[in-house]
Amino acid sequence: MLDRLPLLPLPTLRGELVILRQRQASDIDDRLLQPIDPEEEDNYGSAWRREWDGRRYHVREHLTSGPEPAKPGHYFWAVEYQGRCVGSAELRVNADQHRAVYSVGLFEAGVRGQGLGKQITRLILAWAFDVLGAHRVELEVLASNHRAIACYLACGFRQEGVRREAELYPDGWKDFISMGVLKSEHSNASHDRGLPSAIDASARPRS
Ligand SMILES: CC(C)(COP(=O)(O)OP(=O)(O)OC[C@H]1O[C@@H](n2cnc3c(N)ncnc32)[C@H](O)[C@@H]1OP(=O)(O)O)[C@@H](O)C(=O)NCCC(=O)NCCS
Repeated sequence: MLDRLPLLPLPTLRGELVILRQRQASDIDDRLLQPIDPEEEDNYGSAWRREWDGRRYHVREHLTSGPEPAKPGHYFWAVEYQGRCVGSAELRVNADQHRAVYSVGLFEAGVRGQGLGKQITRLILAWAFDVLGAHRVELEVLASNHRAIACYLACGFRQEGVRREAELYPDGWKDFISMGVLKSEHSNASHDRGLPSAIDASARPRS
């Protein structure tokens, strides 16, 4: 009854605009072409402002050294758009509790606000719920990150709480919003909209 969620290999997920796939060497070149955007970095938390100055680690040596090899349950996708890498998305699965923490970021500023984030999020939620069998997916987002919040709401996440003044930024303390979506909500929403699963057959485990 208290079974663990079986962990699967990283799938390639394909949408109309994006391909979510394993990392490859050329992703580093694509990342280095884009400048560090402090506003983007702030959206991932304020720790970076103490640890580095936004340039020190924006070098090939650092980018090729990390992140560490994926642990079981840690899924990391490079986001490919029009033949280049423009960002990444992650799912960290807690197999005992059948839940996962989701995060996403498009490092190429010019591609934001065109629907890529929603497509990435929908592809990963469909895989997490319909293929992996997760019960819940959750995340935290800076309360002032209105675009990300709109993206998550559009994909079925609900606001669950506020972590007030959770992190210290150069201009003061900032709130973070906790959001979550349950498998039942995801299935109902897909059913209500008459949507087929966003996952193509190649992403499903073979039985
Ligand atoms: C967050 C992020 C992944 C979203 O992806 P995206 O491709 O930009 O988002 P989409 O275009 O799919 O959807 C954006 C939604 O916000 C709305 N939006 C667009 N620009 C906006 C803005 N400046 N302010 C508020 N809402 C905005 C869009 O209308 C859309 O909502 P809708 O479907 O209700 O119309 C992307 O913007 C990003 O990488 N930002 C920087 C890093 C980041 O913040 N990561 C998330 C950390 S929690």
